Amino acid sequence: MDHLISASLLAADFGNLEKDVLMINRSQADWLHLDIMDGVFVPNISFGFPVIEFIKKVAEKPLDVHLMIVDPDRYLTRFNDAGANILTVQYEACIHLQRTVTEIHNLGMKAGVALNPHTPVSLLKNILPFIDLVLIMTVNPGFGGQSFIMESYNKITELRNIIDTGGYNVLIEVDGGIDTKNAAKLIESGVNVLVAGNSVFSSDDPVKTIHRLKKLT
Ligand code: DX5
Ligand code: ZN
Repeated sequence: MDHLISASLLAADFGNLEKDVLMINRSQADWLHLDIMDGVFVPNISFGFPVIEFIKKVAEKPLDVHLMIVDPDRYLTRFNDAGANILTVQYEACIHLQRTVTEIHNLGMKAGVALNPHTPVSLLKNILPFIDLVLIMTVNPGFGGQSFIMESYNKITELRNIIDTGGYNVLIEVDGGIDTKNAAKLIESGVNVLVAGNSVFSSDDPVKTIHRLKKLT
């Protein structure tokens, strides 16, 4: 399968969000990545339901919603109602993770599990049969524009082996510090979905940068 690009709106212009969502619509991005931060799980607060609902009205592509919040079970229905298509929870924030991903599926969304940089992929062994996607955080979550953690390549290779050996139907997504320089090596390592924020929105031509991330030429 060709790899997918999920453009992270955290780096968009919130003074004119419609313009940036329309840019994503006409670009080769496959998904829109929405980072939800609660100021507790991560030391930052981003945006909530009214903003997601607005994006949903304008976006023509699936909403890939990444929850960096404690106790996400309280809000799964709200995120579904707001328009999330893929809902990813942090492994570290879930006590009953299997119940959480089952509820995400029951609501009709795809279910993802995100791992902080220090959380080993071996911990996913018993949840892989129940999920659609693993999001490997390649920075510590909370902010855009951080540097990619090089150790992530080892985690990706290890997870790719576990998924292939077990025959699981699970995508590997990476998030944090992804740009046109490291994208090709990430895909070679077994990644399926690249999240890109600042490398897209801070570039002179975001549509062209997305094209380069997609085609990797
Ligand atoms: C970080 C977020 C990322 C962020 C990525 O906590 O989960 O999705 O937007 O931004 P860049 O691509 O700028 O590192
Ligand atoms: Zn994210």
